[in-house]
Amino acid sequence: MCGIYGYIGPRNGVKIAIDGLKRLEYRGYDSAGIGCIVDNGIDCVKEVGKIGVLEAVVDGLTSHAVIAHTRWATHGKVTRENAHPHLDETGAVAVVHNGIIENYTELRNKLKEEGVHFHTETDTEVIAQLIARIYEGNFLRAVQQAVLLLHGSYAIAVLHKNHPDQIVTAAAGCPLVIGVGAHETFLSSDPNALAHHTREVIYLEDGEVALIKADETQVFDATQAQISKKTDALLHDIGTVSKGDFQHFTLKEIFEQAQTVKNALFSRASEEYGTVAFEELHLTANELLTIKRVLIIACGTSWHAGYVAKYLLEDVARIPTDVEISSEFRYKNPIVEGGTLVIAISQSGETADTIAAVREVKAKGAYVVALCNVQGSTLAREAASCLFLRAGPEIGVCSTKAFTSQLVVLTLFTLLMARLRHMSKNEGHSFLHAMHELPDQIDEILGHADAIHTIAKKYSQYNDFFFLGRRYMYPTSLEGALKLKEIAYVNANGYPAGELKHGPIALINETCPTIALAGDKVTYDKLLSNLMEVKARHGKIIAITDAGHGALKDIADDIIVIPKTLDELAPITYSVACQLFAYFVALERGAEIDKPRNLAKSVTVE
Ligand code: F6R
Repeated sequence: MCGIYGYIGPRNGVKIAIDGLKRLEYRGYDSAGIGCIVDNGIDCVKEVGKIGVLEAVVDGLTSHAVIAHTRWATHGKVTRENAHPHLDETGAVAVVHNGIIENYTELRNKLKEEGVHFHTETDTEVIAQLIARIYEGNFLRAVQQAVLLLHGSYAIAVLHKNHPDQIVTAAAGCPLVIGVGAHETFLSSDPNALAHHTREVIYLEDGEVALIKADETQVFDATQAQISKKTDALLHDIGTVSKGDFQHFTLKEIFEQAQTVKNALFSRASEEYGTVAFEELHLTANELLTIKRVLIIACGTSWHAGYVAKYLLEDVARIPTDVEISSEFRYKNPIVEGGTLVIAISQSGETADTIAAVREVKAKGAYVVALCNVQGSTLAREAASCLFLRAGPEIGVCSTKAFTSQLVVLTLFTLLMARLRHMSKNEGHSFLHAMHELPDQIDEILGHADAIHTIAKKYSQYNDFFFLGRRYMYPTSLEGALKLKEIAYVNANGYPAGELKHGPIALINETCPTIALAGDKVTYDKLLSNLMEVKARHGKIIAITDAGHGALKDIADDIIVIPKTLDELAPITYSVACQLFAYFVALERGAEIDKPRNLAKSVTVE
């Protein structure tokens, strides 16, 4: 989704900003632009398509004060005009913006009545025009006054031609990080894009405005009073991540999962007591015992992880659990009773809907534990405790290793809750033992990649799929289907197998194959009956199974055999097989796997 980068200092900021935009590329975008202070004012260059196109056009341009942007279209088509920065009508002010200004039509109409001429349909142009209209010689003051009139979410960076040694930036509901260097200052919507220049950063909170110069940064709160902000230290440098010998980041990340699962487990399992200890969970055993209900909020793949956790927490820890999609939940008037623990899951920690939902439950007094992969992200800072996934940067837009790490952390949390309640030490030991087997089992599945590729190739030209599963395999089927949709652009529906006959079975015929996730022992025989119904309607069946596959052999057209684990852990192993299947279908169809069309890694708008 949209990305912001900025630089002010003695070096050529154009080169630095282009490099910064490349580091934001993984988030997804459709056009890019750069605005910079030059001798006679502000120069803006914008292009549709890859950063490489923009880079070629700005070759030779130099500036010490630069703002830059990657756009993921919301208001207005993907065109050069709609790309950022946007200028006011006099060309004095340039703005790059992430987020959505909800009252932009009203502001625009008002400015038009005052005689201001607009050149684009974007909400961002309104911000530039507004700042220029308010400006009376004090740049900072003009931005401070303008942001008070904006409704919605934004992170902005602004240049003014009369103030060539300043960038003013502001944020509300969208992340903005300032990187403090030696006699130079950077800014970005993503801390990862700063780490190779400086590890010292300042996060802007909602309503704050910053005046940035090469040598100093002043931050002001929403009342326009100057405040002193602490600097935080960054840990990761995303710039060092490469594809290695893999054709795509997505494949590399699928193959990293034996290690990332180990990382998520590392030092959290307490072998002696058959339980779990999270260093980052600031809740005592007594406080954990007072939890009567768990509420999980998340989007997309993270919501699927939450759905698996609902089964786990209810089945293993016997705690009533609800799982909600953040974008729906945030507009409910949620009932958050005493004794409710909220778990917010977000790989990026920047998903706007999840953050809004978290703020809503916090306002109602809930204690929020986040599950997040990105240190310093908004969610990690908002939550009372944050359990990190330790999956390392995930560059492929489609979430793979972060998902399995989410499952590991949620399973560990379930074990902790179960041991505090009714589970015996011996049961805890067996559970942990099964978890420790996961990395080797994942390696074994990855060892079958060629066989899975062969099956994927056979089915790569089908345009509709069902993924069927029961119990733990139901949310796993939702995730398997999502992978196929997003990277192979193939229609796929995850369904509880028992529900098929209540409508969707009408779609089954020889052109619509079914991926059967036969990883749940409790419902295995029931699943076989459902598959017979599919077969009777000439549906092709690809079964993923860890069973002796006697009966399945007669039903399925193709079988992918993976190692046996507990039902509770099967979502992890089965998901790895589904990821490989989706990857190879996408490869055979020639899809753009790491950056699927229309998708963004970090969804910072509603
Ligand atoms: C799918 C995918 C998305 C994300 C969703 C939430 O592969 O990556 O569905 O899971 O956009 O993102 P986070 O977890 O960053 O909140």
